Amino acid sequence: MSTINHVLVTGGAGYIGSHTVVELIEAGNKVTVVDNLSRSEYKIIEGIETITGTKIDFHKMDCLDAEALHKLFSQNKFSSVIHFAAFKSVNESVAKPLSYYKNNVGSLIVLLDVMKTHDVKDLIFSSSCTVYGQPDQIPVDESAPFKKAESPYGSTKQVCEQILEEVATEGFRVVSLRYFNPIGAHPSALIGELPIGVPNNLVPYVTQTAAEVRKALTIFGNDYNTSDGSCVRDFIHVSDVAGAHVKAIDYVNKQSKSFYEAFNLGTGIGVSVLELVKKFMAVTGIRLNYSIGPRRPGDVEKVYANPEKIHKAFGWQTKYDLGQSLLHAWEWEKKLRDI
Ligand code: NAD
Ligand code: WQD
Repeated sequence: MSTINHVLVTGGAGYIGSHTVVELIEAGNKVTVVDNLSRSEYKIIEGIETITGTKIDFHKMDCLDAEALHKLFSQNKFSSVIHFAAFKSVNESVAKPLSYYKNNVGSLIVLLDVMKTHDVKDLIFSSSCTVYGQPDQIPVDESAPFKKAESPYGSTKQVCEQILEEVATEGFRVVSLRYFNPIGAHPSALIGELPIGVPNNLVPYVTQTAAEVRKALTIFGNDYNTSDGSCVRDFIHVSDVAGAHVKAIDYVNKQSKSFYEAFNLGTGIGVSVLELVKKFMAVTGIRLNYSIGPRRPGDVEKVYANPEKIHKAFGWQTKYDLGQSLLHAWEWEKKLRDI
């Protein structure tokens, strides 16, 4: 059983945030959620309440709104903050870089300033494997250098990590978690991912194709230097990602001094896009309509984590395999579409 903390979760109505709120509550923590619902829906909060049997202390609030955050921090004594709130679409960030810098970097700066004022020093930050670009060595470990970001979105994560590393010296205890490719949904199918418009990400596209919302899936390239020519990624169940945040809070609690550390959060297993599609068909029994198309600009060929650092430091391991992750994603899609 973890220590009882009062954790502020920003972006807690979103995909990874909502699953993390469930894990935090199930581990005995008190949770307050802040989200402006710009990229999510209130029904996810209701889903969390059904899963946990707990009324969620939810505040519809923008993390750029320093005044509102100050008020919330004055009314509560938070022990730590998990900062998920950000925009995450690579494509949209290319079209609207300023709004990405403003929201992703701006909200972090506002939050740090409010935390400092109220003497809340513990922060878990959502970073991304995108900070590595195409690493020279795979599996990639945390010592790999940042390559030039492929998109303004990726750049915001690099900038945020740099800010955190420097600001930590002002007394903060900070962990950045570099997520690889979170997929799936809560096993209850009461919460999951809510992609906006046509999904860019592979698994929502797969499940929407299976649900006949999309006609066919295009596999972006089969001429990469990989076993079957399609790209290789590290797909990890979102509840496993969520569980690592509970461990991260325990880890931060154990540190006596201010520090900054980044951890890979992946399975350590590289899976190709074609392998994932075949696994989806095997576990669901659905014949997916797919074809091979050209490469997608900006895609890295192959990336998967070396998760040794997080295994050792947090005592964390994944619980779900690829088949379970895909099955849970499909159960969630069916629930959304009433199939
Ligand atoms: P999401 O879009 O589902 O959730 C983000 C949540 O933050 C949404 O509910 C949105 O309404 C909220 N939000 C955005 N800006 C806000 C603001 N200014 N104030 C208050 N709320 C705000 O995304 P997600 O997949 O859950 O991602 C969570 C975090 O993890 C993000 O920081 C994202 O960049 C990072 N990340 C995601 C992935 C992934 O593949 N999903 C991978 C690596 C890193
Ligand atoms: C996975 C693979 C595609 C859709 C992105 C962000 C990254 C991180 C996670 C936030 C690739 C292929 C996809 C499709 C396909 N997010 N694909 N057909 O690009 O690894 O990572 O999400 O931090 O920053 O860049 O994930 O799911 O988009 O793609 O063939 O219709 O699936 O080419 O090889 P990606 P993805």
